[in-house]
Order: sequence, then structure tokens, then C-alpha cells
Amino acid sequence: MDLYEFQGRALFDKHELPVQAGGVARTPQQAREIAERLGGQVVVKAQVKVGGRGKAGGVRLAGDADQAQAYAADILGMDIKGHTVEAVMLTVTADIAEEYYFSYLLDRAERTFRCIASVAGGIDIEQVAAQTPDRVASVAIDPAAGVDEAKAREIVAAARFPAEVADQVTGIAVKLWRAFVAEDATLVEVNPLARTTDGRVLCLDAKVTLDDNAGFRHPDHAELADRAAVDPLEQRAKEKDLNYVKLADGSVGIIGNGAGLVMSTLDVVAYAGERLDGGVRPANFLDIGGGANAAVMANGLEIVLSDPDVKSVFVNVFGGITACDEVANGIVQALDLLRDRGEAIAKPLVVRLDGNNAEAGRAILDGAGNPLVERVDTMDDAAKRAAALAALAGTGG
Ligand SMILES: Nc1ncnc2c1ncn2[C@@H]1O[C@H](COP(=O)(O)OP(=O)(O)O)[C@@H](O)[C@H]1O
Ligand SMILES: [Mg+2]
Repeated sequence: MDLYEFQGRALFDKHELPVQAGGVARTPQQAREIAERLGGQVVVKAQVKVGGRGKAGGVRLAGDADQAQAYAADILGMDIKGHTVEAVMLTVTADIAEEYYFSYLLDRAERTFRCIASVAGGIDIEQVAAQTPDRVASVAIDPAAGVDEAKAREIVAAARFPAEVADQVTGIAVKLWRAFVAEDATLVEVNPLARTTDGRVLCLDAKVTLDDNAGFRHPDHAELADRAAVDPLEQRAKEKDLNYVKLADGSVGIIGNGAGLVMSTLDVVAYAGERLDGGVRPANFLDIGGGANAAVMANGLEIVLSDPDVKSVFVNVFGGITACDEVANGIVQALDLLRDRGEAIAKPLVVRLDGNNAEAGRAILDGAGNPLVERVDTMDDAAKRAAALAALAGTGG
């Protein structure tokens, strides 16, 4: 999850990094009030999750609260690289003498953490790295050792920070590393890290990416999520502890038990769909997990059927801990539940049950006699059938 600058700034503040006082406004009037509180001389900054806001006109220096209000009015609603500005952050203006760059990131290719630092900051670091690679220090960080004062000094020396800021940057490097670890971030980037004319070093921008897989360790991170940007079905699935993933340009909904089975189901459906006119692809997938019961199946089916792109659903279950009769009951109950709620479902379901109690499961489905449910005994045939049904629905046939 990428954070907005104001959220990143708040995390920096929590970890005692030097940030400017500030506030967030969603209207020009709010911006004015914040500017007044901050003393008038403020920077008005577009809050969008892309870089280069400065160049795009999304960062303006105001001399007083009137001007701050006017700039906020300009910036709110602005489109920056396809992102609409819904909020601005106002912070106290810094009198900048020099702009540096400092970041920690997870270097997946090298399987390590890394610090990238440069005294040529403020601008696009990729550009600096391409044009003057000797001005960018890249230092691998042993995750077990982390960044203590000695390591921080090594970084400061490698990036050749001026002597007059060496101590301050060292302190920031240690604290920023603590923030990176404590918050389970995969990126913390400060660009610019600025030296002011009165000799202070400040974090004037904050770009933070948090590791969603560590979300369970950080209940407080939930409120940082950008609800508008999250697929509402993914959100609902998450609330129900289901692993649902939306895919682009597909029409077959996929439900399976266990990640391995779900992945191979995606493959067989994609393979079967490729051969059809126009091509048919999986629309989503949902793993009901190893020990799922009828209620879990009902929740899963409800979510997958709610996806408007879904034209047919393939339920592929290999009974293990989850016995097939449980799953079959879940399917029957889910369909009843949806019908009772008045959510008319006209989408065909192809069900393949194998493994533990498969016979009993099949008997339950056959007994329920729902015309939307088709039983197919092999995975390949079921995939072909589900893809064909989706293709048929796609052509309106
Ligand atoms: N508090 C501030 N005081 C003075 N200048 C600032 C302040 N915050 C940002 N700036 C200036 O605006 C530039 C762009 O701001 P920044 O937050 O880095 O946005 P982006 O990286 O999206 O362009 C900075 O490089 C800096 O020169
Ligand atoms: Mg920046």
C-alpha cells in the first residue's frame, strides 16, 4: 500500500524524524484556516500518489493565508498524471539551501534491503543515477544488523554528504531505518531531504510504501487504506477473511479450495478459453481455503457472483479437510440465500467435486436440482464448459 505524503509525514513524525508542522485540507477554506494557524508562510501541496507534483504545478509557495487559500482552490480538483487532487497538505515553508535524496527500500532482485542516497536530490533520482551515477550511493543493508550509527556513517560517507550536515543525516538515517522496520515498509523515500539556510536538515517530502502482508501486525495501518481506490468486492472479501482477487478482462469466476488448486484452475480455464471465439479468460479467483465449511462457500459464491464481469462460475473443489458434501451444501445454501435476498442469479455454475465424500456431494447437488448448476466430473471438461458458458453469455446467446 502506497501512502499519501501527509500519511508518510505523520509516520515520520511519529518516529521523531524532523518534519515541518502541517495539516490537510479538502477545501480552500480549510486550507486558509491551516495556513493561518501555521503563520501564513506555507507550502500548498497536492496529495496524490505520484511523484513530480512540483513540476506539474501541484506544489506552490504561499506568502500568506489569502494566497494559500487561492492556491488550494487552484490545486484541488487538478489532474496530475491521471490522479485527481482531493486534498492538499499545507506545511511551513523551509528556507532551502540544498536538496538531498535519501531512501531505504526492499531490493527484491538482490534479496536485500538497500539505502540509496545522494547529495543531488530534489529531482528525479533515476535521472541523476543515469546521468551522474557517481553522485548516487547504493549501500546494501544486512537485515539482521540493520542501520546503527556506524552503518549510518558508512552511508553518509558513501554519499559524500557535506561535513556540516553529517551528524544530522546520520541521526536521520538511524531513525528512518527504525521507522522502516517498525512500520514494515518496503520503501521510505525522502526527496528532498533538505538543508535549510540556518543549518537544519529536514524531511520535506515523504513517500512510503507499506507491506500489506504485514498488515496483521499493524491494526492502525487499516485506516491508511484508500477506500475509494480499493475494489469494493476485494474489500468485502477481506472483511470475511476470504482471498479474492479481481482480474482484468475476464468473464469466468473461479472458486477453489487451496491456493495450488486455484492457480491450476486459472490455467486450465485460460487454456480452454483461448480456443474460443473472442477468447475467454478468468474474471477473478477466490480461494475458500483448506478447512472451509458451508458458510464460507456461501460467502465466496456471493462475492464471485456479485462481480458484474462474471458470466459463469467454475467451482473446483478437491475434498480433503473440506469434505465435498460440506461444499455441496454450501453451494445449495448460497444459492438459496441469494434468492431469498432477491438477488436474482442467472449465472450458470459449473461444479467439479472430487476427493473426500465426492459421491455424497454430487448427490446433494443433484438432489437440489438447481437448473443453474451443472456438475462436470473432470477439471478439464469443467473448465471447457465454464468457458463455453461465459462465451455464450458474452454473445448474448
Ligand atoms: N516545506 C517546504 N518548503 C519549501 N520548499 C518546499 C517544501 N516542500 C517542498 N518544497 C519544494 O518543492 C519541491 C517539490 O516538492 P515535493 O514534496 O518533493 O513534491 P514532488 O516530489 O512530488 O515534486 C521540493 O523539491 C522543494 O524544492
Ligand atoms: Mg519529492
